[in-house]
Amino acid sequence: MMQKTDALKEVRHILAVASGKGGVGKSTVAANLALALAKTGAQVGLLDCDIYGPSIPMMLAITERPTVIGEKVVPVEKWGLKILSMGMLATEDTPVIWRGPMVAGILQQFLFQVAWGRLDYLVMDLPPGTGDAQLTLSQIAPLSGAVIVTTPQDVALLDARRGLKMFQQVNVPVLGLVENMSYFVCDQCQKKHAIFKSKGAFRVAKELNLPLLAEIPIDPDVAEGGDSGNPIFISHPESEAALAYEKLARAVTTSLEKNVSEESLHLKW
Ligand SMILES: Nc1ncnc2c1ncn2[C@@H]1O[C@H](COP(=O)(O)OP(=O)(O)OP(=O)(O)O)[C@@H](O)[C@H]1O
Ligand SMILES: [Mg+2]
Repeated sequence: MMQKTDALKEVRHILAVASGKGGVGKSTVAANLALALAKTGAQVGLLDCDIYGPSIPMMLAITERPTVIGEKVVPVEKWGLKILSMGMLATEDTPVIWRGPMVAGILQQFLFQVAWGRLDYLVMDLPPGTGDAQLTLSQIAPLSGAVIVTTPQDVALLDARRGLKMFQQVNVPVLGLVENMSYFVCDQCQKKHAIFKSKGAFRVAKELNLPLLAEIPIDPDVAEGGDSGNPIFISHPESEAALAYEKLARAVTTSLEKNVSEESLHLKW
């Protein structure tokens, strides 16, 4: 793990939310997990690392632009989170074709030239996949751990395995899998229905010797919350999905605190 620089010296844990496959609900998990962590009283930051397709500003209805003080960008604050995304900086004229080295440069700035201040958790929403960009990021950021989001189908699970390998390659502990769109609760019969293959992530987690941290139901309110910028964790805090994000937050906290190494103990306050 690289040395934390000044900008991150008051950040206790940096957590990557990753997936092998795109569209599995990674940004939704990252946003709601950040909110669930904040609800526990923790100081939480949310960094959207998807330079090509930033979705956090839309998911949290952020139209404000971050300010700059001195040489540092000040993240936008909403619902108790400190948030930064390329989507807050880019204008319609900003090129979407960033070349590889430029992406790495932007991400370095996002981490190190931002006034993150004192944070218990900085949640990073990674771009989908296990290519160069993800690998670079996992090396640039002093990550405490990663969670891998998957859906129950074999195609997604195959990519989740790739995600695990990528983090192992750079010695970042994978805290576990999150199965999104696990089941659907019918509002007529209240029964849980498996839309996709049942227990897919459960099997793979077992095989990979990883915990399955949470199973998040498929819920139209989750999708609606993402589109309207009013996340389900805020709009329906008692929903089964919100409770699943809370469970995930507890699992992540427990796992990260267990992993606090001697080296980072001085960061405790
Ligand atoms: N549990 C859920 N129930 C219903 N809809 C969901 C759920 N999770 C995510 N969605 C919806 O699925 C779509 C994709 O989710 P999201 O953007 O979070 O995926 P992603 O993995 O970040 O995608 P990308 O790979 O493009 O970054 C969004 O419209 C989101 O609202
Ligand atoms: Mg996303």
